[in-house]
Amino acid sequence: MNKKLTIGLVGFGCVGSGLYEVLNKSKLIDAQIKTIVVKDKNKKRPLPEDHFSYDVSDILKDEEINVVVELINDSDAAYEIVRSAFNAGKAVVSANKKLIAEHLDELLNLAKENEVSFLYEGAVAGSIPVLRNLEEYYNNDSLTSIEGITNGTTNYILTRSNHGVDYSTALKEAQELGFAEIDPTLDVDGYDSKYKLVLLLKHAFGLSVPPEEVVNIGIRNVTKHEVAYAREKGYRIKLLSRAEKVKDRVVGFVAPQFVSREHSAFEVNNEFNAVIVEALFSDKQLFIGKGAGSYPTASAVLSDVSALKFDYAYEYRKSEEGKTLTFTKDFFVKIYLGSPFIEAINEIPFYQIDEVYQSEDYAYQTGWVRFSELEQFNFNQRKELSLIVLPEPITSGEQLIKKSKERKFALLETSIV
Ligand code: HSE
Repeated sequence: MNKKLTIGLVGFGCVGSGLYEVLNKSKLIDAQIKTIVVKDKNKKRPLPEDHFSYDVSDILKDEEINVVVELINDSDAAYEIVRSAFNAGKAVVSANKKLIAEHLDELLNLAKENEVSFLYEGAVAGSIPVLRNLEEYYNNDSLTSIEGITNGTTNYILTRSNHGVDYSTALKEAQELGFAEIDPTLDVDGYDSKYKLVLLLKHAFGLSVPPEEVVNIGIRNVTKHEVAYAREKGYRIKLLSRAEKVKDRVVGFVAPQFVSREHSAFEVNNEFNAVIVEALFSDKQLFIGKGAGSYPTASAVLSDVSALKFDYAYEYRKSEEGKTLTFTKDFFVKIYLGSPFIEAINEIPFYQIDEVYQSEDYAYQTGWVRFSELEQFNFNQRKELSLIVLPEPITSGEQLIKKSKERKFALLETSIV
């Protein structure tokens, strides 16, 4: 069925205005924006005033409008709008990763009850068509891992840091270029990447994981010392969202990571995102594309709108597999931990220490830690501690636990003597 689409657009910011333009430029899609709802009456906009409404019920009550495209920043207001749209029998396209990660199962049920589609490709990795690929191509349980750079702002800041640009200048540039969230804490502390990872966990492994269950460590505390360490070792620093399936357990987290030249994300710079999918038989596959900005995100929204012409809906085929899997934070990871204060480093329990460096004003230590024990240290708030994951694969850590027990025993023996 090739349906006529009449759109009610909510929000006319960076992505909303981008959608308006790409829809007008693209002659390929026969869809028309009938009403645009915005909040601020006094804001200067590039279209005549009669294009705008200030009341969302103008869309909800309009029977001709069959698609609501929700592109506002306020996720609480978006939650009410999306629910009302479903209850009014309208399909919804959204790019609001926070809203979707926080309420996914509830919104899916409501969409199902009302027999309408809910699409949100633009919510993950901007222009990269990752969700639909996970749904349609990887529609079985062969996936073993999915990881990537899912935040354009932080990748832009980290790329600029390699060129000697300081953190606040680079963040300002990312804001001016329209990459950053209105509250950039969401970007730099890894929340945005976490919301996207929650959506990837759902579509890759059928797991519903509340965002508060996923640890997110951001890039706010990356200093010139870590940039220099990376350069010396031939690494680059990337903020990665990672999920891996090990037997019936899935681990997932967001943290900055040193990646070596062999890593597929090594050359992915500026606002580009990368998603690396690994499956049993296809091995690794890499998707690269612009992850932020007006047109790239609008292009993903446009693709969702166009899929609605054929009543496309995600089928969540991995849900059955998801019931057999458990999300866990209990695994071991090798990290670099830097600080001006050696006492701060010593607070963190290491199960094995591989390298220690100390100068007059800076120290770092590398080694293996139990990830579940890191959460309590709230790294985003600990300005004096820079944690970066090293390239070694994560492990369930049986050997490390054994070693640490032996060491404790040996220490105890020594102290008795
Ligand atoms: N602030 C987000 C980013 C926008 O930088 O990736 C796209 O989701």
